[in-house]
Parts: sequence; C-alpha cells; structure tokens
Amino acid sequence: MNNKIKADQLEIKPVDKVTAAHWKLLLLADSNKNLVQSYLQLGLTFAIYKEAKLAAIMVLQEVSQFKLEIKNISVDPEFENQGIATKLLHYAIQFAKKHHYQQLQIGTGSTSFKQLYLYQKVGFRITDIKSNFFIENYERPIHENGLLLRDMLMLTINI
Ligand code: ACO
Ligand code: ACO
Repeated sequence: MNNKIKADQLEIKPVDKVTAAHWKLLLLADSNKNLVQSYLQLGLTFAIYKEAKLAAIMVLQEVSQFKLEIKNISVDPEFENQGIATKLLHYAIQFAKKHHYQQLQIGTGSTSFKQLYLYQKVGFRITDIKSNFFIENYERPIHENGLLLRDMLMLTINI
C-alpha cells in the first residue's frame, strides 16, 4: 500500500512562538539545546501540520548572502517514513530558489544512514567534513546505528 502523503495534505506555517511541542521535535534532531537556541534566534522556523496535528519542524538559517542552511529538520515518530521530510527538503529548495540563494546546505552525523540516504536521494552531495564536531560540541557521547558519532558531514545542493 502506498502511504505517501501528498504535499497538499501538509500545512507549513512559520512559527512565532516556540512551544514545548516544537522543542520536543527540535531536540530529536539536535540534542544540543544551546545550539538549537542560537539558530532559533537567527533562523526561520516552520511547523508542519498534517490533519491539524503537529507532524514536523524545520529551521532555515542564512549562512551567507549566497547560502542557506537547513539547521534542523525533524518529523514526529508517529509520522516518519511517510515522505514528509522528502517534501520539506523540496520545500526548502524552492524557498532557497525564491529568495535567490545559490546553495542550500545541511549537516548530519556520519552515522546517520537514513538521513544520508534521504538527503542524497533528494540531490544533496557531500561537500565537507567537520571532524570531531559531535565530540567537541555535545556534552554526552552519541551512539547511532551501533557506532559512536564523531564527525559531521555537510551536504550541499546547488540551486
Ligand atoms: N536506512 C536507510 N534508509 C531508510 C532507513 C534506514 N535505516 N529508514 C528509512 N529509510 C528510508 C525510507 O524508506 C524513505 O525512503 P523512500 O522514500 O525511498 O522509501 C526515506 O528513508 C525517508 O524519507 P521520508 O519519509 O521523507 O523521511 P521522514 O519523514 O521519515 O523524515 C527524518 C526523516 C527527518 C530523518 C526523520 O526520521 C527524523 O525526524 N528523525 C529524527 C530527527 C533527525 O534525525 N533529524 C535530522 C537530523 S539532521 C538535521 O536536522 C539538519
Ligand atoms: N546497511 C548497514 N549495515 C549493513 C547492511 C546495510 N544495508 N547490510 C549489512 N549490514 C551490516 C551487517 O549486519 C554487519 O554488521 P554487524 O556485524 O554489526 O551485524 C556488517 O554490515 C557486515 O559485516 P561483515 O559480515 O563483516 O561484512 P561482509 O563479510 O558481508 O563484507 C563487504 C562486507 C566487503 C562490503 C561485502 O558486502 C562485499 O564484498 N560487497 C561487495 C563488494 C564491495 O562493495 N566491497 C567494498 C568496496 S570498497 C573497497 O573495496 C575498498
């Protein structure tokens, strides 16, 4: 059965006030509260609703005049693997295009196999490695897919 949702079934709204429900999703994607706080202040936050339920969150932040970054993308586990993140990544690409950025980038853990699959499927390519990023910037060790997470991979798509 194809349970992929259609774009028109998603409602994407800018967030003025970040609530506890938003925080729950933000911290699923990034456990460093201080880092999240800093990009919430500098970036644009979108909440995504499916049938009036909060299903996902995404934060976009300008890196330079030419470059936009997806700082956080998180889908509620209840709504995972239904194509929501795929649609949000396409939405972010369109947003970057509309606002005349030349590149859109996203960073993820080297052990984040699902995320790496998804971002490359949408067209992002690995352009940089931030060695030891997760060791130096996170209080506790992060284990994922049976591995200790150390490095952040940066992926970029040309708009
Ligand atoms: N390995 C490889 N691929 C997988 C795996 C896996 N273990 N599990 C699922 N997939 C595939 C699915 O089959 C699907 O591919 P398909 O469309 O070809 O069938 C794809 O991965 C998932 O696509 P979506 O359904 O569009 O993604 P989803 O809505 O589930 O959201 C996300 C993905 C955002 C990573 C979600 O799982 C999530 O929120 N995870 C927790 C938070 C997180 O890690 N966020 C990203 C951190 S990086 C950052 O925020 C910048
Ligand atoms: N995603 C993530 N992990 C997976 C997947 C998958 N799709 N499929 C299997 N695994 C896991 C297994 O569960 C196992 O992990 P575990 O020990 O924690 O359970 C691990 O990957 C495989 O470990 P091994 O059994 O030791 O590896 P294997 O003997 O199967 O060899 C190899 C791996 C060399 C990649 C083999 O599959 C192969 O020859 N593939 C085709 C040729 C190839 O790609 N070679 C490497 C090219 S790079 C180079 O040559 C320099």
